[in-house]
Amino acid sequence: MLTTVDNKKKYSIITYGCQMNFSDSEIVSSILDNNGYKSSDDYINSDLILLNTCSIREKAELTVRKKLESFKKLKKKNSNLKVGVLGCMAERLKEKFLIEEKIVDLVVGPDAYRDIPNLLREVEVGNNAVNVILSKDETYGDIDPSRFSSNGISAFVSITRGCDNMCTFCVVPFTRGRERSRDPKSIIQEISKLRDEGYREITLLGQNVDSYLWYGGGLKKDYKNASELQKKTSLSFSKLLELIAVNFKEMRIRFTTSNPQDMSDNVLTVMAKHKNICKHIHLPVQSGSDKILKLMNRKHTIGEYKELIDKIKKIIPNCGISHDIITGFPNESENDHKMTLELMNYVKYDFGFMFKYSERPGTLASKKLKDNVPEKIKQRRLNEIIDLQQKHSYFNLKNYVGKNCEVLIEKESKKSSQYWCGRNDQNIMVVFPKKNQKAGDLVNIKIDDNTSTTLIGSS
Ligand code: SAH
Ligand code: F3S
Repeated sequence: MLTTVDNKKKYSIITYGCQMNFSDSEIVSSILDNNGYKSSDDYINSDLILLNTCSIREKAELTVRKKLESFKKLKKKNSNLKVGVLGCMAERLKEKFLIEEKIVDLVVGPDAYRDIPNLLREVEVGNNAVNVILSKDETYGDIDPSRFSSNGISAFVSITRGCDNMCTFCVVPFTRGRERSRDPKSIIQEISKLRDEGYREITLLGQNVDSYLWYGGGLKKDYKNASELQKKTSLSFSKLLELIAVNFKEMRIRFTTSNPQDMSDNVLTVMAKHKNICKHIHLPVQSGSDKILKLMNRKHTIGEYKELIDKIKKIIPNCGISHDIITGFPNESENDHKMTLELMNYVKYDFGFMFKYSERPGTLASKKLKDNVPEKIKQRRLNEIIDLQQKHSYFNLKNYVGKNCEVLIEKESKKSSQYWCGRNDQNIMVVFPKKNQKAGDLVNIKIDDNTSTTLIGSS
């Protein structure tokens, strides 16, 4: 078996999918570091390769399968190499994975990462190892994530796990289990450590952060059975956000993702009150048609969504707003699609993530609704949505030209070593020529030009 000089086995984690997966990989890495393994960027020469996977759309799963296929050669060269699958695909396919992808030795779902050292011992003695048990209270709150691929400036801090919303298209409630919130003490501890290590920005993470609710632990859905004392001393997202903003004045605070049904006025007023909370809200809408929202089991109407947008613009006038939209959901008519374009014209989002509907096995939509919008039409609608978003992005970014923005320098620009890049308050990427600044500095940048995705400035 390949080993490093200090005799530790080398592992590499390759992460796909959402920010939550990247955050989870840091937890898995910490667990392995504490159990005699050593992290390596060079997966080709590792003893253990872990793929942290995504199931959100079929394409995401196909990418993972392709990667696994490419490991066949590696395994032939190094018969001791072990391959593990973590995350949502592990949870969705369970033992089936071991049969379908013969090169997989280890399958671990998102709530079972503490068991990885035991499972690896099983693998060492030639057994296949699977743990996909979902938990009621696991939040990995006590685990200090190993920031193995971080820029040292901004970090993710996870505050909730799972999701109870059961949007009919979405596989997340099945792969990540029921929603639970993390102990605020451990959140504050993690942020303190990041501050002491020189980090300048955190992003609070959850499938649905606005629904954060700490009442001593346990599932969100069991809150109704909590004692009077637990209810009295419970902590909501707006309170948590304010607590962090007040205690970490020198840090920038972001959060994602917000679900329109759960975003409270209190969150908006806390955002407006504290300068260090970045003025950006990612507010997925999925569709501009009430008929489609209902079929998706989204718990709000377009009227309510627009009211929320108006409120955001009133309480936080300079707030950046972004979206997720799905095109071609079952039964989406041309008129429904037009309503999505209309909504986009109403909000004029700064940016967004746009997807074609992908039927996911096991979801309610896959059971009850026929995936009946032809591929060609899905694609055409997606193109129209992307084109409109580009127009809005370009127009919104143009508004910054001639003005000044505060930017946190994150790293050198990918395109030129003569430029820095970082994000402004509204989460828009800004690039500018280097002067005598360093990564981690908060600088005032005059915006001179823009594309539809980037602001170009000077200090
Ligand atoms: N609340 C979550 C949403 C996770 S999924 C969050 O933290 O962002 C991210 C986005 O993927 C969703 O908002 C939705 O727009 C898209 N998505 C989810 N399931 C999908 C599917 N079956 N087909 C296409 N897009 C999907
Ligand atoms: Fe998925 Fe809807 Fe939750 S999109 S993650 S079920 S809010």
